[in-house]
Parts: sequence; structure tokens; C-alpha cells
Amino acid sequence: MSSGTGGNYWQGKALPSVFKHELLRHYIPPFGGMTGKQTQERRVVYLDGYAGEGRYESGEPGSAEIAVRVASYYRSRGLNLSCFFVEQQPQSFERLQQVLRGYQARGVDARAHHGEVDEVLDDVVQRAAGVPLFLFLDPCGLCLPRSRLVDVLARRRPQRRPATELLMNFSMMAVRRLGGHVRSPKGNEKSLERFDAVCGGPWWREYFADGDAQEDAAEAVAAEWARRLARLTGMFVQSVPVAKEPHQKPVYHLVFATRSPYGLWVFGDAVARSRAEWWKTLELKEEQQGQGALFTKASVLRPDPQVVEKEAIPAMAANLEELLRRGRPIKLVDHTLELFGPYYGQVTEPVARKAVKYLHSEGKTPTTGTGEKRTRELVVLPPARG
Ligand SMILES: C[S@@+](CC[C@H](N)C(=O)[O-])C[C@H]1O[C@@H](n2cnc3c(N)ncnc32)[C@H](O)[C@@H]1O
Repeated sequence: MSSGTGGNYWQGKALPSVFKHELLRHYIPPFGGMTGKQTQERRVVYLDGYAGEGRYESGEPGSAEIAVRVASYYRSRGLNLSCFFVEQQPQSFERLQQVLRGYQARGVDARAHHGEVDEVLDDVVQRAAGVPLFLFLDPCGLCLPRSRLVDVLARRRPQRRPATELLMNFSMMAVRRLGGHVRSPKGNEKSLERFDAVCGGPWWREYFADGDAQEDAAEAVAAEWARRLARLTGMFVQSVPVAKEPHQKPVYHLVFATRSPYGLWVFGDAVARSRAEWWKTLELKEEQQGQGALFTKASVLRPDPQVVEKEAIPAMAANLEELLRRGRPIKLVDHTLELFGPYYGQVTEPVARKAVKYLHSEGKTPTTGTGEKRTRELVVLPPARG
């Protein structure tokens, strides 16, 4: 199975990469900010294991340049985001190095390795001993074997602090393709075995055994893969589908893993913001391509953010009311998934504050939701008894 990028990948950013990069742009800075204080050293290690060229021919930043920009920003604030990049393809590696040189010259701690991520993973984990570590693994095809991931996340870095987090591309195109091999007499057993390793066993093959509803099977495999990772690592795991167009099958899922309630909260906010950017870019592209068209697909299909928010506020207030039935104060960040429910990753952080205010206006909590505190830090009190 091909592990490289296709011919025009680096010409300009495709829509799935817009989402992926927005997520990095929204998430890496708070990760550095939140975890950088966990050690006196004020150092955080970041690994981009499938780094690519670092920048598109269009001049837009790829994942590597996004990271070194964040590192450059933090450098002036006394935090060292120590970046490791790995790229296997010689030409891409050469371009990556060119991009990094400019940042290295300004003192950014960025190192690039030409080769396979598996060769350097242990070394990077070793160098991250005692400091927070963020792993970004973004292959075009299959990712590392699950045993490798679990070894790092659960055996070598089982502790909550210093933090360890993962953002990984789980290719749905690869799952669908391999699913097709399961029942085919010409199915490539070597490829199937490689995916067995990615999944930690052949359990996934059963999902494709009866031959119908292949798409449901692929989604079920992705969900089960994430569930198993959560169980084996004890981490919160969230899996976000990313598509090329609205109502299309996802090309991949971005799988996020953290042990931190704060990580979980901020990631949901970052997903919602990135989703908005995905829609905006789609609309812009459509406008550029179809000049003169009366309306764009994006403008017709995009759920109206105001409507979504209007629905989310009472729904989240109801979730909060349910949480308060326990009769104890609720700190929002400790209940992210219960609070947001299906709106996790759909609405941004401020909507949670609006839900608290809504509940207060209904007389169901004495907590007003106003004040200086960050939304995630709000402690909401149950209604007075009597
Ligand atoms: C999807 S692209 C990376 C895109 C990049 N992360 C971004 O968002 O800008 C995947 C890259 O991984 C490289 N690659 C494939 N297998 C690899 C491996 N085992 N180790 C390191 N790099 C690999 C490919 O050559 C390709 O450039």
C-alpha cells in the first residue's frame, strides 16, 4: 500500500487538510500553554512523524510549518517547543529542511530526520522524559502498529503529568480498500496482515465478512479501534471524521487521545472552530470555481451556526441540570462530554457559558455564569433545597 502523497498533494491545500491544519493551529498553542508549566524546564516535545514538505507550493503552511510557527511564538515567551520531524520521501525531506532552516536560524528548536517514524519514535520518547509530549501522526495510508502506540502511551508514559497526547490520522480510504480484500479470493494477505497489526489483531475483518454495508463496516471499525485504544491506554479518545465535501464519506478520522480533562475540553472547542473554517474555505473555493452560480453547495448545506447554537444552549442546559441532580457543585471542565453531549465539537466554548446563564434564568441554579473566570473553570451550584 502506497505510503506517499499523490502527484499534486503539495500544490495547494485540499479541504481535509484545511480542517486538519486548523485543528493544529487551534490546539497546539493551548497544549503548549497548558502543559508547558508542568515542569521547571518549560519545555514541551512535539513529534510530527509524517511531516511531508512543511509548506505547500502555494505558500500555505503544512503541519511542520504550523508547528515551528507556534514554537517561534512560544520561544519569545520563554517556552521551548522542541520539534522533531520525520519524513521518508527524499524530495519532500529536502523541501522540509529548507522550510525549517529559516526557523532554526531564528533559534527555533527544530530537528528533521530523513527516514521512517518508527526508527526515531523511541529516541523522541526518551528525549521527552520528564516533559510533556505531543505526537502528531499523519500518514497517507496506514499508521504505526497498535502495539507501538500502546507501548508509548500506556507503558512508557502512563502518567497524567507530564502530559502525553496523540493526534493521529486513521485512514478511512485504507480501511475501505482493505475491507474489500477480506472477502475477495484475490485479497492481498500481506496488506491484511499489516492492518491486523494496526488494529492489534484480525478482529476488524469480521466487520467486512458478510459483504454488505461496507461503509457502515468501515465506520464501525474506526469506532471500535478508538474504543480499544481508550481501553488499553486509559485515555479519553475522540475520533473526528474529516471529508472532502459535505455529506461525503470521510477520507480519514483524526483520532485524539489525552488524559487531561482540559485537553478534552479545548480539543472540542478547536474541532468546532476548525469545522467553521472548513465550511468557509469550501464556500470560498466554490465561489472561485463557479463564478456566476446563484448559490454554493456550502451555503445550502451548511447547518446555520446560529441555529445550531440556539438548539445547543437549552440542550446543554438540560445536560447540566441532569449533572446537578447529584446535588454537588459541577466544575464544567470535569464533565465535558456529558455537558456538550452531541454538541461536542459542534459548538465552541462560549456556548457552555450561555447554557449556564440559561439554566440560571430558569431558576435552576444560583450560578449566574457571569464573571472573569474562564468558562471551563466555572463551578455551577445545584439549586438550593426547600
Ligand atoms: C499526509 S502526508 C503528511 C502531511 C503533513 N503532515 C501535513 O499535514 O502537512 C504523509 C507524509 O508521510 C510520509 N511518510 C510515509 N510513510 C512514512 C514513514 N513510515 N515515516 C515517515 N514519513 C513517512 C510521506 O512521504 C508523506 O510526505
